[in-house]
Amino acid sequence: MNITTPAAIPTVAAHGAAIPALGYGTSPQTGSVATEEIVTALRAGYRHIDTARKYGSEGAVGEAIRASGVPRSEIFLVTKVSHENLRAADFARSVDQSLKALRVDYFDLLMVHWPNPAIPLSDTMPALAKARRNGVARHIGVANFTTRLLDEAAALCPEPLAALQAEYHPYLDQTKLLGAVRRRGMAFVAYCPLGRGRLFSDPVLADIAKARGRSVAQVALRWLVQQNVVPIPRSSRPERIAANLNVFDFALTGDEMQRISALRRPDGRIANPVERIAGGWD
Ligand SMILES: NC(=O)c1ccc[n+]([C@@H]2O[C@H](COP(=O)([O-])OP(=O)(O)OC[C@H]3O[C@@H](n4cnc5c(N)ncnc54)[C@H](OP(=O)(O)O)[C@@H]3O)[C@@H](O)[C@H]2O)c1
Repeated sequence: MNITTPAAIPTVAAHGAAIPALGYGTSPQTGSVATEEIVTALRAGYRHIDTARKYGSEGAVGEAIRASGVPRSEIFLVTKVSHENLRAADFARSVDQSLKALRVDYFDLLMVHWPNPAIPLSDTMPALAKARRNGVARHIGVANFTTRLLDEAAALCPEPLAALQAEYHPYLDQTKLLGAVRRRGMAFVAYCPLGRGRLFSDPVLADIAKARGRSVAQVALRWLVQQNVVPIPRSSRPERIAANLNVFDFALTGDEMQRISALRRPDGRIANPVERIAGGWD
């Protein structure tokens, strides 16, 4: 069995959590194909796996962990509770279903997947904190929250929020949200870090990649890593899975970082179910 020792992957510290600085995303793949991809990722050295009740990939993640030969204790395992299950009783039931689907007894990070304007955070945040207090979640966080919702969530949560997960890539400006997350000492986890494929024809990224002898994906991921942001790319291809992790042995210059930041555009957002974001995005 070929298991890469993940010695080269640094961690991002947040409220006691040591989060591997790059993770593997598992949506939208499910079933045995997902299991195979996740085993590939674990054996390539990934130690941070992102799933969610909603993805239908939890079973595959559990299978993959057991098949990989990598001890559970070495893996930073993340799942999320869907927006329709944010009332306290539903929340606890969803967490229980996640534990059973994965056949694990704790999560390293448990997150609210999306806000739900129909369910008050005063109901949800104590339920999230309770999961930490009773040991099923080592750390807790929120996904797809705006700065306003993050303020509200933090005020209502008796346990510290370690991470916020949101869409972030060179086409989407997240300056305001990133500032708010940093001020709270939280980690920023970036989903769709490759813009779900939209970045690959970008001439600026291609130019920097060529000059560096790297792929466009590696340059885009490095741009996030260099901001202390934790990307969670997904690929179905073993060679890309391995290459996407290989971004800790080079650095972009300040000029390159700025050229990439300048690619932000107003229509850059991909995941946009507006009905879940009362008051709009930052
Ligand atoms: N919290 C949320 O609401 C939320 C929302 C969306 C996503 N997520 C999480 O974030 C993860 C990542 O986001 P995502 O999968 O939507 O988008 P992504 O990682 O930005 O992009 C994935 C796409 O990029 C391609 N790709 C990956 N590496 C590549 C490379 N080196 N060269 C060329 N193409 C490459 C993949 O195709 P191939 O498979 O062909 O390589 C796939 O089509 C998800 O899996 C999920 O875990 C969370």
